[in-house]
Amino acid sequence: MNETLEVIAKRYACRDYKDEMIPDEQLRAIAEAAIQAPSGMNRQPWRVIVVKDRELIKDMEAEGMSYMAGMEDKSTYNRIMERGGRLFYGAPCMIVVPIDPTQYAAAMLDCGILCQNIALAATSLGIANVICGLTGMAFASGKRSEEFSKRLGFPEGYAYGCSVLLGYANTTKEPHVPDQEKIIFVG
Ligand SMILES: Cc1cc2nc3c(=O)[nH]c(=O)nc-3n(C[C@H](O)[C@H](O)[C@H](O)COP(=O)(O)O)c2cc1C
Repeated sequence: MNETLEVIAKRYACRDYKDEMIPDEQLRAIAEAAIQAPSGMNRQPWRVIVVKDRELIKDMEAEGMSYMAGMEDKSTYNRIMERGGRLFYGAPCMIVVPIDPTQYAAAMLDCGILCQNIALAATSLGIANVICGLTGMAFASGKRSEEFSKRLGFPEGYAYGCSVLLGYANTTKEPHVPDQEKIIFVG
C-alpha cells in the first residue's frame, strides 16, 4: 500500500476528543486540502469555515440536541444519548461547510467530496475527525439558524451543507470493516 491508500484505510469516525486545540498551521493545511477538492464545472459552491470558537460550538450543540429531543422519531437522539449525549463528542474544533443552495444536489455532492478531503488530510496529520452531518440539527428548527449563519459568517444565501469535527482522539476505534461484496467487476 502506498501512503495515500494507508491514510484512506486508517481514517475512522472519532467520537471522543481531548480538549486540546489544533495548531493554526495544521488547520490551514487541512482547509487548503479542502479547497483542492474537485467540484462540478469547478463551481466551488462552498466556503470552508474553521470554527475554533468553543462558545459557538457549545451553542450549536445545545440547539441541535434540543431539536432532536423534540423530534417525533427519537432514534437519532437516542443514538447520541447512548454515545454519551454529546452531539460533537467534545471536539474543540469543527469545519463547517455552507453551500450555495441554488443547485442543491450538485452542491451537496461537491460538499461531500470536500469533507472527505478534510477527513483524509486531517488523518494524514494525526488529527482525529468525523464527518458530522448532524450539525445540521442546529439549523433544523429555524429558530437559531439565522444567528448561527451570522456567527459562522455564511455568505448571503448560503445554507448549511455539512461539517467535520476535528481534534485529538481521547479514545480511538477501528474504522468499519469494508464489505468486499460491494465491489463488482464487469467484464
Ligand atoms: C455524510 C456523512 C455524515 C455523517 N454524519 C455523522 C454524524 O452526524 N455523527 C456521527 O457521529 N457520525 C457521522 N458520520 C460518520 C459515519 O457514521 C461513519 O463514517 C460510519 O459509521 C463508518 O465508520 P468509520 O468512518 O469509522 O469507518 C457521517 C458520515 C458521513 C459520510
